[in-house]
Amino acid sequence: MTQTQTYQHWRLERDGDDIAWLHFSRNDSSANTLSSEALSELDNLLTDLSKQIPKGVVILSAKKSGFIAGADVKEFSSMKTIEDAAEFVRHGQAVFDRLENMDCPTVALISGYCLGGGLELALACRYRIAEDDPKTKLGLPEVLLGIHPGFGGTVRLPPLIGAPAAMNLMLTGHAISARAAKKIGLIDYAVPQRQLLEAARRTMLNPPAPHKPKRWQALSNHRLVRPWLARVFRKKVAAKAPQDHYPAPYAIIDLWQKYADTPGRMLREERASEARLVTDETAQNLIRVFFLQERMKTLGNKALIDPKHIHVIGGGVMGGDIAIWCALRGFNVTIQDHKHETIAGVLKRAHRLYKKKLKLPRLVTAAMDRLIPDVTGSIGLARADVIIEAIFEDIDAKRTLFKEIESVIKPDALLATNTSSIPIEDLASVLSKPERLVGLHFFNPVAKMQLVEIVHGPNTDKQIVEKASAFTRHIDRLPVPVKSTPGFLVNRILMPYLMEAVILESEGVPASTIDKVALKFGMPMGPIELADTVGLDICLHVAENLAAAYHVDVPERLRQLVNAGNLGRKSGNGFYRYNKKNGKKKQNKSTSTNVSNDEISNRMILRMLNEAVACLREHVVEDDNLLDAGVIFGTGFAPFRGGPMNYIEKENKSVLNEKLSALSDKYGDRFSPDAGWSE
Ligand code: NAI
Repeated sequence: MTQTQTYQHWRLERDGDDIAWLHFSRNDSSANTLSSEALSELDNLLTDLSKQIPKGVVILSAKKSGFIAGADVKEFSSMKTIEDAAEFVRHGQAVFDRLENMDCPTVALISGYCLGGGLELALACRYRIAEDDPKTKLGLPEVLLGIHPGFGGTVRLPPLIGAPAAMNLMLTGHAISARAAKKIGLIDYAVPQRQLLEAARRTMLNPPAPHKPKRWQALSNHRLVRPWLARVFRKKVAAKAPQDHYPAPYAIIDLWQKYADTPGRMLREERASEARLVTDETAQNLIRVFFLQERMKTLGNKALIDPKHIHVIGGGVMGGDIAIWCALRGFNVTIQDHKHETIAGVLKRAHRLYKKKLKLPRLVTAAMDRLIPDVTGSIGLARADVIIEAIFEDIDAKRTLFKEIESVIKPDALLATNTSSIPIEDLASVLSKPERLVGLHFFNPVAKMQLVEIVHGPNTDKQIVEKASAFTRHIDRLPVPVKSTPGFLVNRILMPYLMEAVILESEGVPASTIDKVALKFGMPMGPIELADTVGLDICLHVAENLAAAYHVDVPERLRQLVNAGNLGRKSGNGFYRYNKKNGKKKQNKSTSTNVSNDEISNRMILRMLNEAVACLREHVVEDDNLLDAGVIFGTGFAPFRGGPMNYIEKENKSVLNEKLSALSDKYGDRFSPDAGWSE
């Protein structure tokens, strides 16, 4: 007979075979996260169970959304002292130690996400069984928040699966599928959903020997191998995340290198290291970015739109990629372009991406089937729920198109343009219902850039803006509503920074020095290489558009390069030269400059900050948090600095303002502090 006891966040069922089933469901949240309260309750439950030990303990989720998403990040942001943080971590470690030391077999039964503290809990169980389904994801994403696993994860993972696989999970934060987890030994079984409970029951009644790593996996943790492997890991991390900006991955490697032979000591050191990191500025800023992202998600209420069919017009760089992405996310998509060969190119690109992302041939075929060529629009236009225009950036061509299609499309279809520079109102005025047009400004490359600017003109219907935001959530992108002003938000803030880099280069500062300085600040790519990658013709077009609106000069050097056909990476020549075959950058001959790195950095970054202040003053976005979010997700602005407005606040507004004034005295008006600095 089954006995059931219900707690606040847990439900304990003890069945006829004397197996204890611990169902977790946080009662105050839709996602299962491990709050201090939920952890304490688990602790009490385990203590009670150990007084009358069952045949086995199975931990599973009672929520459909997944197993456990991790520790409760909200609690991290409230930790101000190292002592508070250490106490929080100690508590979690103690609960998982108790779980690990239960006098009976224990199993984590995983369905859906199993991340961070959730995976650490699973690691403290003797067995792990996961549903073999694409929605199952196992990972340790802590480094993305500037911290590392703190509930014993750094201690338990390397001995289980060997250092290379363990480091790969902990240092990248990437989540893996159940099958991949089975392959590396992270889980014991990957089974279909219908067999999950039975697999757990059988494991409890007939417990097999716990998983042992392969010999080479075990050897990778040997004290003689560790110093050598640690060097390899550090080098790999350094290529992506400098230690000054992102200390967490280096701390993981240090812990393992120094203490992997003494688990007890390692656990204490893990706690001390985690407490230091979580209270450090990097982690606090990255946690802030996490919440900004959560806020952006809430801007799109999926219930507002049910997009079954999406129609994209223009199959070039952007339209093609938008269509490909929407079909990847499970929607039926028609792609219209008057050039057959362009559509053929889209299908080729789609196949490449789907193979990489979906892997299984049947899933690739299904995604390809969802992407339907539609040269004239006769299939999709009339039936689509969302129509996205992405033809040439030409106002007359776009206006003609909108006039033509308005009477064909469904009256309630969401009608959007991907224009990067034309005011929405200038396009909307040809429609009989101008209020229905909205901008869905995607960024290139669509598959990588999460942000979509939802551009609204003075007459755009508010509900349409909300619907457009909701649509971006359906395709797993992040919306930020912006006013239809030249450059919108992201390009307007990015462009002064890029142009200052071009001016520096034309003054003789080597491109590589400029890029290095920007990387040091924390930008993901140097501005000169970024300009080459975006395409110098596109940069020139955006810069000219902004120059006309804001009365700034476009550097002559940029015009010269474009006129000479040097368009950047795509033409093999730009500020840098590129290998025609693999697109790799060749190093320019080294030259020197007498402009200091500080000056280079200030000139580029302060122009960007000045523009951010102007955007806020003009209410291009609703508030400073959304501005930070937009700039981080749209440009990659140093996430560990928490966004431009957060950086201004932390660095001291008046100091930065003075620096701008000094640059303005030296170089002219382009550095004049915006009126917003004194608001
Ligand atoms: P593109 O030149 O690569 O592609 C435009 C495509 O539209 C071409 O394949 C062309 O055949 C097709 N086309 C033109 N007129 C058409 C019509 N009447 N009916 C059907 N197809 C037509 O252009 P790209 O770069 O994809 O840009 C498209 C839009 O996206 C522009 O408004 C641009 O400002 C915007 N955008 C571009 C970004 C970029 O990085 N390239 C970034 C964000 C927005």
